[in-house]
Amino acid sequence: MADAPTPPLAGTVVHGAGRGRGLGFPTANVSPDPGTPAPPAGIHSGWLVRRATGGVHRATISVGTNPTFCDTTEVHTEVYCHDPSDEVGDLYGERVEVWFVARIRETETFASVAELVLAAREDIRRSEALLDSEHGRRVLALLS
Ligand SMILES: Cc1cc2nc3c(=O)[nH]c(=O)nc-3n(C[C@H](O)[C@H](O)[C@H](O)COP(=O)(O)O)c2cc1C
Repeated sequence: MADAPTPPLAGTVVHGAGRGRGLGFPTANVSPDPGTPAPPAGIHSGWLVRRATGGVHRATISVGTNPTFCDTTEVHTEVYCHDPSDEVGDLYGERVEVWFVARIRETETFASVAELVLAAREDIRRSEALLDSEHGRRVLALLS
């Protein structure tokens, strides 16, 4: 049976550990609104909507505890925007929505940061194709 669609997540962008930029994947860390059901753990493709501008951005989302770094038990929702002109540093304090398109894989504990970076590059490549798929465009149509 197909997975049930993941409902969109609304929240506010907060500061993370600040590691993402050094890895080549700066992420917007989204603190979900209280009472919002947690999205399923794993790596997803999706669309990020900035409430302030109405801008819609192609994204890959990590939902998990970042086990490769073993530094937290808290679940983080981290959104990487594909367009390099999207300066996620500018998003702090902003209200956003994350619209999930498809789950790509489970979160893994990698033996090295280099392996995580390689996997994340592949995730982004797959995410691009999923966003361009019929289903990805259908989710996009819900936003306009
Ligand atoms: C596409 C993508 C895939 C990721 N996959 C994993 C993963 O499998 N395992 C993991 O521990 N962290 C994963 N992460 C999360 C990174 O560990 C996290 O974004 C990074 O540590 C930066 O965290 P920070 O924003 O709190 O500084 C992934 C992040 C992205 C953007």
